[in-house]
Amino acid sequence: MTADGGEIIRLQGVCKGLYDLNGKTLNRGVPVLSDINFSLEKGEIHVLLGENGAGKSSLVKVVCGAIEPDRGRVFIEGGEIPANDPQQALASGVAIVSQEFSLCPNLSVAENISLGREEVRAGGFLDRKATRAAAAAQLARLEASYIDPDRKVRHLPVAEQQLVEIAKALAAGPRVLILDEPTSALTDNQVEMLFRVLRLLKAQGVSMIYITHKLKEIFEVGDRVTVLRDGRTIRTIPVGEIADVDAVIQMMIGSKLENLFHKESCPVGDVALEVDNLVGQPGDPPLSLEVRRGEIVGLAGIVGAGRTELARMIFGVDGYVSGRVRVFGKELPKGDPNAAIAAGVGFIPEDRKRQGLVPLMSVAENMCHVSMRRLSEHGFIGVHKRRALAAEYVGRLKVAAASLGQEIRYLSGGNQQKVILGKWLSANARLFIFDEPTRGIDVGTKSAIYRLMVDLAKRGAAILMISSELQEIVGMSDRVYVMRGRRVAAALAGGEIAGDNILRYAMGGDELPMRNAN
Ligand SMILES: Nc1ncnc2c1ncn2[C@@H]1O[C@H](COP(=O)(O)OP(=O)(O)OP(=O)(O)O)[C@@H](O)[C@H]1O
Ligand SMILES: [Mg+2]
Repeated sequence: MTADGGEIIRLQGVCKGLYDLNGKTLNRGVPVLSDINFSLEKGEIHVLLGENGAGKSSLVKVVCGAIEPDRGRVFIEGGEIPANDPQQALASGVAIVSQEFSLCPNLSVAENISLGREEVRAGGFLDRKATRAAAAAQLARLEASYIDPDRKVRHLPVAEQQLVEIAKALAAGPRVLILDEPTSALTDNQVEMLFRVLRLLKAQGVSMIYITHKLKEIFEVGDRVTVLRDGRTIRTIPVGEIADVDAVIQMMIGSKLENLFHKESCPVGDVALEVDNLVGQPGDPPLSLEVRRGEIVGLAGIVGAGRTELARMIFGVDGYVSGRVRVFGKELPKGDPNAAIAAGVGFIPEDRKRQGLVPLMSVAENMCHVSMRRLSEHGFIGVHKRRALAAEYVGRLKVAAASLGQEIRYLSGGNQQKVILGKWLSANARLFIFDEPTRGIDVGTKSAIYRLMVDLAKRGAAILMISSELQEIVGMSDRVYVMRGRRVAAALAGGEIAGDNILRYAMGGDELPMRNAN
């Protein structure tokens, strides 16, 4: 299991209270980490599990020196590291792929990958050629040579941004690699490729801490698992001793999860969304599909198939060359999100690491950002109504926040996502477009979100759900469109909605998995 045994990292009795953006402990609120004991052995992949807000990211921030514990000790290779000394952690060879977006959007891929490393500098200046070559080598390692090293990061789709973040961490040649939800934005074939790289690193003696909400991954790469709950370590156990995913869920949430999807078929009503021969770019094939009230329609396909682009055109974030979008029988003007919102469309975007939240505003204010506009059409919306609405969705989505007034920047990654979801769910839309609705969300809350979706459909809303999780598409959809190469490759219903069938259309029959063409 481990290369040569022996610990590389140990946390002893680590405690941390709620902290600010500089990592300084605030003298209020519940503890984020309480009496944490944790060890990482040489050459092992140690998986950290827990619900949103359990303390996973905070724990690894202590390991890499980004936040200073209030109490307890941190050892790297037997030597105690002085509190809050990230330089020392880095010098000890610790690299992190963090959960937050950490790239510079206006720099190129190559510049981002080389950032902060001196060997690619000549005489104090960035050696462009060496920088490019170093980046290209890292991308090749991840089988991602299709990403152009000269491209500005902000122009890349989310999955490619994620690969660049991973390439950047690998480029540092770490002995300890921390990966905080590295696969939440990747598709299956990209994940497999990443796992091959991780296994290779492990064989070379690199130790890894791996955080994920995709529980099946534990059995593919994990050696040991530590479960956190409310900032405490509940249990550390070798993966070989875990029976199955259900046993993992039980450890995480403390009880069994009886029904994940809550799926019920609802009476189908009028056409809510009609996409009629939409052509995004000259030369693209025309796209057509429809969603009726009461339906949950899945939009499947691999990254690069054109699903997010389609959603953005419908909502008016992007324009298109020709074709029509009708919502409840009325044609929407091109490229006008306000018109879409007024027509009752709610769009939960994929790129939630960077969109949709105002960090300095409170949970309640963030949640009511959209609905305020709608509610105020009927006059004044009072503080009380706003709070009541926010409270309802904080409860339904189990947002772990100290209070409704807490600033959103103090929430864990998954809880911030829940607030974005709540913001749109509470907006009274009648047609919802969800782009990867449960990405980065823990399994218990996932189930709550599925229940909310079914409730919406029951009340006559129409839902178009983009998802890269086959299980989610199969478990939730009344009908499925599969996209491939920017066109609709198949429309499936009833018994046709099965994982292998969807995959076959998404991949294109006998063809090998397609590379992201963007
Ligand atoms: N930047 C921050 N500043 C202050 N407090 C934070 C910050 N990030 C998280 N917290 C608090 O620490 C607690 C644990 O959050 P943490 O991010 O460690 O959870 P997590 O297990 O990584 O959750 P998720 O699965 O949602 O990413 C939360 O209650 C949160 O409010
Ligand atoms: Mg986290």
